[in-house]
Amino acid sequence: MKLPRNFYKPLAIGAPAPYRELPVRLERMIHFVPPHLEKIRARVPDLAKQVDVVLGNLEDAIPVDAKEAARAGFIEMGKSTDFGTTGLWTRINALNSPWALDDVIQIVGAIGAKLDVIMLPKVDGPWDIAYLDQLLAQLEAKHAIGKPILIHAILETAEGVKNVEEIAAASPRMHGMSLGPADLAASRAMKTTRVGGGHPDYFVLADAKGDTPRMGFQQDLWHYTVGKMVDACAANGIKPFYGPFGDFADLAACESQFRNAFLQGCVGAWSLHPTQIDIAKRVFSPDPAEVAFALKILDAMPDGAGAVMIDGKMQDDATWKQAKVIVDLARIVAAKDAELAKVYGL
Ligand code: GLV
Ligand code: MG
Repeated sequence: MKLPRNFYKPLAIGAPAPYRELPVRLERMIHFVPPHLEKIRARVPDLAKQVDVVLGNLEDAIPVDAKEAARAGFIEMGKSTDFGTTGLWTRINALNSPWALDDVIQIVGAIGAKLDVIMLPKVDGPWDIAYLDQLLAQLEAKHAIGKPILIHAILETAEGVKNVEEIAAASPRMHGMSLGPADLAASRAMKTTRVGGGHPDYFVLADAKGDTPRMGFQQDLWHYTVGKMVDACAANGIKPFYGPFGDFADLAACESQFRNAFLQGCVGAWSLHPTQIDIAKRVFSPDPAEVAFALKILDAMPDGAGAVMIDGKMQDDATWKQAKVIVDLARIVAAKDAELAKVYGL
């Protein structure tokens, strides 16, 4: 275990000092693009204006014979696009694959100064983070990159879930993590064939009462894992995200999965299809009525102390802190989104 005093020291001579606080960024949706497809790359400059994060996917869903083209395509789109305040991320291949090392070396060498975050799949424990952390420090030093590239872990193996707290605390380079329900389902031997969302057979049956028909109440298969991930992230000052929702035709179910994650503490989700961008924008921007009520609480209790009644509801320092979470988020949203800024009155 590293000594606490060494935790924030750069891991290579000449590498930038790790962040003590994460940069404040709006990341309601991490929008996945397959960078080996030229037609898709051509749309990236427009896309960058609509989303909070553009992620070039190199891992699963990219055919094996297109792995090198995807990496080259990502470098090309990184060089040629002005991303403004939109984040530029990549999901590299897993560390046990033949492509991961070249993914990191070539991408950081070519566009390291523009790259905000590397998403690392199939993280089993803090050792995976330590490996990438050290490699990134060496490359940052070699290429004189002025700010640290952050790491975002995908929580998608049973071993990763078991070690989630150690993963969250593994490095000051940790940005956050996303639930990967598809790989996690496989790793746990869950009996599903879906990418996220619920399952009609996972429900609680109401008690029998004479001849009254018994209602079944579908439950959220991901509730436990999202809760565990949110606690690990919040305790370490990093950000939790819900990952992919694979049924692109079921917009209502996608919205409900995203909303459950938002209410539980997640700050964003992946968008794999253009229709999911608006869903994520709607869900992960705070509700205007909630913002208005939160502003009332902050107004009524400027220093957060004591207790007041607003609209018949008791407010104290705990609700003041909840209100501050909502208003702080609304201010970040308003800074990027002029329309919502007007709606919030900020
Ligand atoms: C994402 O990578 C998942 O496996 O769900
Ligand atoms: Mg996966």
